Amino acid sequence: MTGKVIDGRIVSSSVKSRVKSAVEKLKEDEIIRPCLATVLIGNDPASSTYVNSKQRAASDLGISTRDHKLESTISQKDLIDLVMLLNSDPDVHGILIQLPLPDHINEFTVINTINPLKDVDGLTPTNAGMLLSGKAVLKPCTPLGIMELLDYYSIKVESIDAVIVNRSNLVGKPLAILLLERNATVMMCHSKSTNLVDKLKSAELVVTAVGNRERFTLKNNMVKDGAIVIDVGTSRHSGRVAGDVEDFQSMKEKVSWITPVPGGVGPMTIAMLLNNTVFAASLSKAPIK
Ligand SMILES: NC(=O)c1ccc[n+]([C@@H]2O[C@H](COP(=O)([O-])OP(=O)(O)OC[C@H]3O[C@@H](n4cnc5c(N)ncnc54)[C@H](OP(=O)(O)O)[C@@H]3O)[C@@H](O)[C@H]2O)c1
Repeated sequence: MTGKVIDGRIVSSSVKSRVKSAVEKLKEDEIIRPCLATVLIGNDPASSTYVNSKQRAASDLGISTRDHKLESTISQKDLIDLVMLLNSDPDVHGILIQLPLPDHINEFTVINTINPLKDVDGLTPTNAGMLLSGKAVLKPCTPLGIMELLDYYSIKVESIDAVIVNRSNLVGKPLAILLLERNATVMMCHSKSTNLVDKLKSAELVVTAVGNRERFTLKNNMVKDGAIVIDVGTSRHSGRVAGDVEDFQSMKEKVSWITPVPGGVGPMTIAMLLNNTVFAASLSKAPIK
């Protein structure tokens, strides 16, 4: 079997053109210019690159941006004050705080300060609870992007057995809920899971998001023939960006569908962030009842 490639660049372009039309319509009909505020603390080069690409992608679609770059020594109180200022600014529709935060800042407390209606990362406890209740308005971007990829290629997940190797709030937990909503049977695995290979071999859909190739790589003898493999992991390997799949070509020979790294899930995360920002802007004029 030779698997088909799930191309995140094609799908993200399609999402972005949909978002661009929505931005133009909002400007015409409601005179709203969607605005994304990003908050970057410290000078970690990877975080800085992520924020810059999010800002650039937003501008390309006509979304305006606010760029807050803060010293790594900022106090938690000052950071919370900034978030509250952005919460109360009617011209700001989406707030993105680039993670991770410095050790002296409590991530939960800061995220919990974001107005859930401006929480374009879908990470506030309110939005996480809404997701669990099946009522989410703003959902986490990476899991949302994975669902968009599956939908674009008409890959059905109803009644299939899915294994996710990740249990973070950013990826594994929200993705498990989204897959459950589509009637998949979901198992979430992690560093303390036993017999991981047996679990992987039983799955028709494998989503891997470890991002540390020394600890874990997904080899083609760990998945069943014809499985769908979604690789979220991102790490550096031999000077290049790599996923969790050990060898893309040999995995492709075994599976029915596979995402590459780079060019798979990564572009979708940004596209869904912009989608959420425009959605948040439209909510600002039509509050949820
Ligand atoms: N492409 C994108 O847009 C995008 C978006 C988000 C994240 N990512 C990437 O996805 C990866 C995960 O991100 P994250 O924020 O979720 O990181 P994280 O919180 O560190 O999650 C890593 C997960 O991998 C599990 N794990 C570690 N070693 C393992 C092993 N040997 N066997 C099985 N499971 C193991 C961990 O288990 P424990 O919970 O037991 O520690 C944890 O659940 C990173 O590479 C990140 O860069 C990519």
